Amino acid sequence: MSKVADSSSPAPSGIPHGGTENNLMEKVVSLCKRRGFIFPSSEIYGGLGSAWDYGPLGIELKMNVKAAWWKSIVHRRDDVVGLDASILMHSKTWEASGHVHNFNDILVDCRQCKHRVRVDHIKDGKCPSCGGKDFTEGRPFNLMFKTNYGAVEDGGSLTYLRPETAQGIFVNFKNVFDVTRRRLPWGIAQIGKAFRNEVTTGNFTFRMREFEQMEIEYFTTKDEAPACHQEWIDDRLQWYIDLGIRKQNLQLRKHADNELAHYAAACTDIEYHFPFGWSELEGIANRSDYDLRQHSQFSGVDLQYHDQITGEKFYPHIIEPSGGVDRAALAFLVDAYHEETVKDQTRVVLKFSKQLAPIKVAVLPLLKKNNDIVAMARRIKNDLQKELVCVYDDTAAIGRLYRRQDEVGTFYCVTVDVQSLEDGQVTVRERDTMRQERIPVDNLRVYLKDHLDYARY
Ligand code: GAP
Repeated sequence: MSKVADSSSPAPSGIPHGGTENNLMEKVVSLCKRRGFIFPSSEIYGGLGSAWDYGPLGIELKMNVKAAWWKSIVHRRDDVVGLDASILMHSKTWEASGHVHNFNDILVDCRQCKHRVRVDHIKDGKCPSCGGKDFTEGRPFNLMFKTNYGAVEDGGSLTYLRPETAQGIFVNFKNVFDVTRRRLPWGIAQIGKAFRNEVTTGNFTFRMREFEQMEIEYFTTKDEAPACHQEWIDDRLQWYIDLGIRKQNLQLRKHADNELAHYAAACTDIEYHFPFGWSELEGIANRSDYDLRQHSQFSGVDLQYHDQITGEKFYPHIIEPSGGVDRAALAFLVDAYHEETVKDQTRVVLKFSKQLAPIKVAVLPLLKKNNDIVAMARRIKNDLQKELVCVYDDTAAIGRLYRRQDEVGTFYCVTVDVQSLEDGQVTVRERDTMRQERIPVDNLRVYLKDHLDYARY
């Protein structure tokens, strides 16, 4: 036998996504739980609303998202360097940044059903929960999580879990500038956890109270800031497309003046067409010179940029592409979800790009009772595992094994059969086309690396 029987081998009649927009989200959430991408946090205690844990496949996906971002932003550019600042920062940071005074949602209570609602979520004056129209006065609710630093709980020990990673970059501006001596424009990139005591949560991992951000603070001059802003908007949009999101599911949305955050001179969001509607994936803001000016004033340390050649000194203007790791991972998951019907059978496939697929290769023995086949398959897996994320599975018949790998987005399946023992060749099946090819084992590692564009990531 030269190819491995696959009941759905003809080209699939693909329907992207699969199902209606309404139940697509349910299908993705269910697949995430069933196959180990994402679990509710503290589930055995009934779960903790809006906190989620990434399982064995989820962590691979998330690490691939972060690695792709880091490669494109830090390793493949000459003008951006990395940083990993601490989550806990001096409490003055949050006064300087404006978060203590401005990072609030205005809340009211519905007198009829006692529901607490964000004022900006009230439509036509009606409570979204019961339709009532009688509300208490609005009160600001600060979204930062408070904590005490050290053993003594007094006013002096109060600080916050950072609500954005950006401030860790601003307070390190001088440190990084002093060691890198860069001329404008240049930037600092960081990936890390952020915490917000969100009032309205939901839509799975879209809005959480603990999440991860990927942020760039890019320093430039006031005159160059608008053009630089546009370049970053274009670059960041392309990044999502390059990693496999369909263009028609992405759009840009420019903020109106009355929507801008207190620090922003302009902002454009990259939005994704989630099953629950167009929603923000990433915001790209022109933060003007607000941040370094504020931190200079509050800390007393001069955070101006000093050009070594022209001698000029000034506060750089900052362009900030700020994305969420979890939101990006969710968009990649939703966009990858496909149901295809072939010969009256439906297969679910996560069509992740090569870089993002959590598992690159699965090695499958055709007959698990044949010791020679099993031994050969295990040898192949051990060899491939040195360079590629690879699994071995012999717990079902081959058709079922293929379906399982399709459902988690594994890019290639390698099948070892009786003939492999004689001619040293195996069947390589590609996930999307289901096309199969016989490849000599001796060439397998090189073949897979080439076809997975391994050098790109
Ligand atoms: N430093 C700017 C800043 O933090 P933001 O628009 O508030 O801007 C940036 O957040 C990105 O962080 C968002 O586009 C989103 O991807 C992610 N994000 C924000 N709040 C989130 C939440 N509660 N849950 C998940 N991701 C969130």
